[in-house]
Amino acid sequence: MQLFRKTLDEKAFQLLKEKMEQGLLPQWVVTDPELYELEIEKIYGHSWQFLGHESELKEPGSYVTRWMVNDPILLVKNRNGEINAYLNSCTHRGTQLCTADRGNKKSFTCPYHGWSFNLDGDLIGIVAGNKVYGEEMDKSEWGLRKVPQIGIYQGMIFGNLDPNAESLEDYLGDMKWYLDMMMGRSDGGMEVIGLPQRWVAKANWKATAENFAADPYHVQTTHRSTVEMGISPEDPLYAGYGHQVVMDHAHGINVITSKTGEARVPFQGTPESMWPMFKKNVTPEQYDILSRVTVFVGGVYPNLSFVSPIHGTEGHLHNYLNFRLWRPIGPEKVEVWCWFFIDKAAPKEYKEAAYKGYLGSFGPTGTLEQDDTETWARIVEVSSGLMMRDKELSYNNVSNYLMGMNRIEPDENFPGPGTAYPTCYLDAISRKMHEEWLELISKDLFVKEGV
Ligand code: FES
Ligand SMILES: [Fe+2]
Repeated sequence: MQLFRKTLDEKAFQLLKEKMEQGLLPQWVVTDPELYELEIEKIYGHSWQFLGHESELKEPGSYVTRWMVNDPILLVKNRNGEINAYLNSCTHRGTQLCTADRGNKKSFTCPYHGWSFNLDGDLIGIVAGNKVYGEEMDKSEWGLRKVPQIGIYQGMIFGNLDPNAESLEDYLGDMKWYLDMMMGRSDGGMEVIGLPQRWVAKANWKATAENFAADPYHVQTTHRSTVEMGISPEDPLYAGYGHQVVMDHAHGINVITSKTGEARVPFQGTPESMWPMFKKNVTPEQYDILSRVTVFVGGVYPNLSFVSPIHGTEGHLHNYLNFRLWRPIGPEKVEVWCWFFIDKAAPKEYKEAAYKGYLGSFGPTGTLEQDDTETWARIVEVSSGLMMRDKELSYNNVSNYLMGMNRIEPDENFPGPGTAYPTCYLDAISRKMHEEWLELISKDLFVKEGV
């Protein structure tokens, strides 16, 4: 057995690539610290990262503070209604400028020496200004640093640290069709209610992202209690009916339906009064899917996941959209950010009931959340052992991603874009996520060695 001192050993990478082509994932990649640094630089330094939703910034002066991995971000609406993203750091000595989660301000004053900045990030005030710096201090050179690119789609705000990255719309690609269906079905779109919940979990971001984007297979076992309580069906295949759709950049969605493809509950339990509005806002193909779907669950690579389930009991059913951002804060930790979205046009009482349902299932008080969190922590624990860290794979220390490989053919009749397979018990999205991951982290990796 051999623990390479250098993770970026070419031999280990070669073996990694070979195994991944066979549908296997060497387990050492899960929490390897050097690889983690590489992921942050090569993936997060160039990808579109979710920052928030337009409904969180209602008025001029509204702001929220967010993170792009370790970069603190200040997202703010200016007087013209434009949303900008700045590094939340004072240009004087760099301390965090705004320390609140959200609020509304005319300007931001630094807690350290009192410099102040307006809603456009311009430096507008220096304590004792000319007396300490003289006449020549040019304030225009000391404005807040902007996140190089910001993009908005269906109200979702994303940022990118790479000024040369492709546009957000190009990056989302085929996923836009599915986002339009989920987020554009109602007049006024979706809105966020409350603050996003946040907590730290012992988990690796790759495992959590995959759990949501690509793994309906875990549902019937991990969340067995929902079957025992009579909320989910006994049939062990129940979360597998429907289509798994794989897209460029490793975005993916599972459109889970019923065994027959008919609706278990029409339009996921939304009030019937809303259905004509859906019809008006989406295409006939999207409307048909909305009428029959049980759960949408998927992800925008690298670290945004979403789930749109049916919750409640007969006569009190509701549907909401939950966004989850897995902010990596180390190879063995994520800060989970969890947003509750609901159709802006939904009746007030329905929104309230749906919010209660969400709190019972997801977030720190949610039962489903606790099921998942425990499994993720155990993956981290196991991955830190000597056997799992062996890069020569002498212990056959690989995970199995063989489900459906070279066996399930795409369903050409599925109306949505992307490659759609006629089952959700499938590792197609996972394999695509691994492929994307390897491509991004290996970019220019061995150039110096002449490879
Ligand atoms: S660090 Fe902000 S004013 Fe000095
Ligand atoms: Fe789960």
